[in-house]
Amino acid sequence: MKIPCSLFSCFSSSTYEQNNNYEYPDGENNDGSFGLFTYNQLKLATRNFHSSEKIGEGGFGSVYKGRLVDGSFVAVKVLSVEVESMRGEREFVVELATLANIRHQNLVSLRGCCVEGVHRYLVYEYMENNSLYNTFLGSEERRTRFMWETRREISIGVARALVFLHEELKPHIVHRDIKAKNILLDRNFTPKVSDFGLAKLLRDEASHVSTRVAGTLGYLAPEYANSGQVSRKSDVYSFGVLLLQIVSGLAVVDAYQDMERFIVEKAWTAYQANDLLKLVDPVLNMNFPEEEGMKFLKVGLLCVQETAKLRPRMTEVVDKLTNDVNMRDVHISKPGFVADLRNIRIKQQSSSQETSSPGATFASSIWSSANLAR
Ligand SMILES: Nc1ncnc2c1ncn2[C@@H]1O[C@H](COP(=O)(O)OP(=O)(O)O)[C@@H](O)[C@H]1O
Ligand SMILES: [Mg+2]
Repeated sequence: MKIPCSLFSCFSSSTYEQNNNYEYPDGENNDGSFGLFTYNQLKLATRNFHSSEKIGEGGFGSVYKGRLVDGSFVAVKVLSVEVESMRGEREFVVELATLANIRHQNLVSLRGCCVEGVHRYLVYEYMENNSLYNTFLGSEERRTRFMWETRREISIGVARALVFLHEELKPHIVHRDIKAKNILLDRNFTPKVSDFGLAKLLRDEASHVSTRVAGTLGYLAPEYANSGQVSRKSDVYSFGVLLLQIVSGLAVVDAYQDMERFIVEKAWTAYQANDLLKLVDPVLNMNFPEEEGMKFLKVGLLCVQETAKLRPRMTEVVDKLTNDVNMRDVHISKPGFVADLRNIRIKQQSSSQETSSPGATFASSIWSSANLAR
């Protein structure tokens, strides 16, 4: 069944504004750029969703590069989740328009969407340098060898995006899926966090859909994995893992190792041995300011502490990363991580009877191989 676009003529941009309950601390406002695209427009833009235009594949479906008639490039995300699992059309569009209003230099902009019958598409600004995962953590031959300065700027940019989502936006947004694949890089390698707000948009307690968005093994805070407790501090945990990755160039989980499979374990062992710097990416050839490298690794470890209360808030993280702070005497306690996969699976099975348990919907995601992140 095709839904004519006129169905949405009632969604004038002023309607979006009325439905937008967010406050914009920087005075950023809706510039009215959120658009409703027709399926034909997207088909034309992506050359009929041609395989050569495909730029990625994620938990929601495929992502295609497209060129709009105004010449600008976009990334079109084809949502392949069942339509029953999504919000109704009207609510879907209104929520997306609200998300599109949330703008920050380190967030990917949502330009619009398309709803035609059971098909739904999200249209984002196109990021020339793809994701941190693809560009920076790809295979040894393909990966771009970032200098220390680039790593510093990317880390700080992502942290600033999280400060914005967590502490400046009212009500705040917990991202829930901070990972290298959700850090996109524009043509200048400015980091842009993507997929914020999607967990909420696609969540449906009665379905498994949130499993696709709610977390990735290796980035998951233990309290989130074990009991579905989601908070800003679970994002801080994921950010800590990401920061350790940016400094070390390591995979989040090394499936081929028996010992110290998780980056967090590796970092903790090195910290205890007073040899944290050995974690710094060897491709840097020791070409980085040692004190700063040490500081970044310590901040990473602070973010992944087992007890959520002990993790810093994102403003503190930015403060530490950007200012000359002495981290020598900072006490860091043991990090937590989700190591026992069997345990999680058991939890998933037992809690799947509790229909509205967020832990249940979450847990199966870590069993999806797509979520076994590098
Ligand atoms: N706006 C964009 N610009 C460029 N590439 C993108 C964009 N959005 C997504 N991608 C690419 O498509 C991939 C799949 O995205 P997504 O569906 O969000 O799944 P995931 O975040 O799990 O990778 C991303 O990892 C990235 O490589
Ligand atoms: Mg993504």
